[in-house]
Amino acid sequence: MSMNIAIDGPAGAGKSTIAKKLAKELGFIYVDTGAMYRAMAYYFLTNGIASSDEAKIAEACQDVDVTIAYENNEQQVILNGKNVNGFIRTEEVGNMASATSVYPVVRTKLVELQRKLAESTDVIMDGRDIGTCVLPKAQVKIYLTAGSKTRAQRRYDELTAKGVSCDFDEIEKDIIDRDYRDMHRETSPLKQAEDAVLVDSSEMDIDEVVEAIRSIYEEKK
Ligand code: C5P
Repeated sequence: MSMNIAIDGPAGAGKSTIAKKLAKELGFIYVDTGAMYRAMAYYFLTNGIASSDEAKIAEACQDVDVTIAYENNEQQVILNGKNVNGFIRTEEVGNMASATSVYPVVRTKLVELQRKLAESTDVIMDGRDIGTCVLPKAQVKIYLTAGSKTRAQRRYDELTAKGVSCDFDEIEKDIIDRDYRDMHRETSPLKQAEDAVLVDSSEMDIDEVVEAIRSIYEEKK
């Protein structure tokens, strides 16, 4: 049976950085499920579909083919045959992903793909509903969080390092709004699974978090 590590938590808690690093150390495949919701959102945006138009979204879900591939160990999301990794990291796509991930039709499609990926491979999968819904039998479940100010600061630093001008308060507001939507939607809301271990990274650096999760894994495997 494959070994599955589920990492859930709010936006900007460091899930992907940590999961990527740990996957490399353990020789696991890293699966970024947020990127799949972003790819769907990118499709809706580029096809002029409003986030409120559930009927059009349901229709579009039938036409959209999302798969993932790996290039130099990096996950690539392939949308209808095209690699969209270079287009899905914007705030616009992130907000659209949060708005459209509320629809069961979107979630069902992606959850199926995620389960298939974890079936026969050792994976570290991160998202919002991995421990609660996608992989309820994951051997290790982590709920990774940090205060909203810390998460906004990390995002702000990341964007300014890339030369993108941005406003701290706006980023923090976006994060708070996104968390609220993710935590209060009807289908698979973001919440800590009963058997997940809580890790608060507010006062920890990346290596400390990787180490903490690694030791939880060593204990449980
Ligand atoms: O993690 P990331 O910021 O890339 O995710 C974008 C959005 O996709 C989240 O705000 C959330 O609404 C949605 N998502 C989800 N379930 C997941 C992963 C992401 O609903 N497993």
